[in-house]
Amino acid sequence: MDSTNKSYVIWNNKGGVGKSTITFHIACVYAEKNPQRDVVVIDMCPQANCSTMLLGGGRGGEKILQNLISLDTPRTVVGYITDTIIKENKEPQHYLIRVREENNKLPGNIYLLSGDGNLELIAPLLSRRAEAEPISEKDTPWKNIHLIIKNLTKESISVGRPVTFFIDTNPSFSIYTQLGIIAGDFLLVPINADDSSIFAISGLFNLIYGSKKKHPVYDKYTFVTRIKENNLDRPKIHLLLGNRFTQKKGAAHAFKALSNEATKKMHEEYIENKRWFRDHNTSITSQNDFETEFTIELRDFNSAGVVASNLGIPLSLMDKNLYEVYGEQIQVAKEQRDKCKETIDKIVDRL
Ligand SMILES: Nc1ncnc2c1ncn2[C@@H]1O[C@H](COP(=O)(O)OP(=O)(O)OP(=O)(O)O)[C@@H](O)[C@H]1O
Ligand SMILES: [Mg+2]
Repeated sequence: MDSTNKSYVIWNNKGGVGKSTITFHIACVYAEKNPQRDVVVIDMCPQANCSTMLLGGGRGGEKILQNLISLDTPRTVVGYITDTIIKENKEPQHYLIRVREENNKLPGNIYLLSGDGNLELIAPLLSRRAEAEPISEKDTPWKNIHLIIKNLTKESISVGRPVTFFIDTNPSFSIYTQLGIIAGDFLLVPINADDSSIFAISGLFNLIYGSKKKHPVYDKYTFVTRIKENNLDRPKIHLLLGNRFTQKKGAAHAFKALSNEATKKMHEEYIENKRWFRDHNTSITSQNDFETEFTIELRDFNSAGVVASNLGIPLSLMDKNLYEVYGEQIQVAKEQRDKCKETIDKIVDRL
């Protein structure tokens, strides 16, 4: 059995593709399926949507979140990062929330390093520190700042229990997103079937792994150049998650055509640079083989998704037909719930 820590970062340069929703659902199911592990969700997005869901969703989740943010030392990513910089950081447990204590629907082995809107406010300070002129050859300010979250993923929460980290991110490529990306061993890329999602795949490759065309002036400032100078690892692409939800879906054949296009783009990247993809035992000689190994389709959660995000109930634990959300009765038929659970199970089984 795998007894080491591992980490998954969920990122796409495009907003609104389902990063936070997927992080919430897979972290909950993964925690249930792996009771011998601890699971930590690190929310590197200032919107903190995933944190709100874990903390019980809706207004209640938001209220708990605001309390965590307004503590003298926030029990959030901002508290953790700032304490680490001023070398006052305590055990990870000091900053983590055991979510069961706030949301009794969740398994006891899932923890949260909460998101925090102030991450946006400290971003310029982080950048300035990272870009400070080194005072000697041994001084590595860029590396020190960029490894803050990565270093956390080496820690354990309880003795003898390996940890799996899920890192939710913001679509921007700001400094805090970079901290989150560097912290991932593996990258999960949610995409929607629309043109901009497909373009975003090229953007993602250029930003994380580098583009063939180097800019004569800006190249020396890029993330990729800095990563190489500092000898840091980047996550390997683990899965492309085709998130098929109604608002973007259109006709089924249109969805298929666009997701084929996205897979094609990823496959082209694979042919050129296999080293950016995780190891696999199958032989990949066609786009079809690539699709089987590296992509998975998510179905539309419909009303189950609304209940999940507003009440903080993971799909796996949704066992009623009727839920009340903001005073409205929302119907979630058993068949629909079961299908949604199956989808999440399938992803988690491939982690
Ligand atoms: N499979 C799905 N079925 C139904 N609704 C979904 C699905 N995935 C995401 N959504 C909905 O789409 C919206 C955007 O999802 P989400 O907030 O997870 O995206 P995101 O990528 O985290 O966005 P951002 O870039 O703003 O952080 C939310 O309202 C969410 O409930
Ligand atoms: Mg989000």
